[in-house]
Amino acid sequence: MKLSRRSFLSNSCKSCGAMMLAGTIASTLESCNTLAVYKTSLNNNEILVPVAEMLDIQRKIIRASNLEYDILLVKKTEALYTAMVLKCTHEDWLLSAGEKSINCTAHGSVFDFDGKVLVGPAINPLTILQTHINQTNIHIKINN
Ligand code: FES
Repeated sequence: MKLSRRSFLSNSCKSCGAMMLAGTIASTLESCNTLAVYKTSLNNNEILVPVAEMLDIQRKIIRASNLEYDILLVKKTEALYTAMVLKCTHEDWLLSAGEKSINCTAHGSVFDFDGKVLVGPAINPLTILQTHINQTNIHIKINN
């Protein structure tokens, strides 16, 4: 079952509210996106993120208006970035990036910030996108 971003956010917020009322606030906070979001759009199969967006920050959600799934951009070094699609490899649900891991609220899969599966039922790692950097931008290549 695929969810639109709007449906996912709406359902997730309702779930978070219900969990908070039930007293499971710690797990609730971990399961929701807690990272800053950079909003942009996809042009010519590429997303540009200004290098300045990643100053003093290790991870950021990249949200392109014309992409179904968010991208998590991870700074490994000043010159090396990893970008991964926040789409669960189990059944295509949208993933939430927390401070310690990437989580799927559908069936509980957990991924690390290299996209590797830490907890199933997902078996396959997240899709990693090609990136390169120049003086002003991080370029994320989208494969269609
Ligand atoms: S869709 Fe993510 S664990 Fe099933």
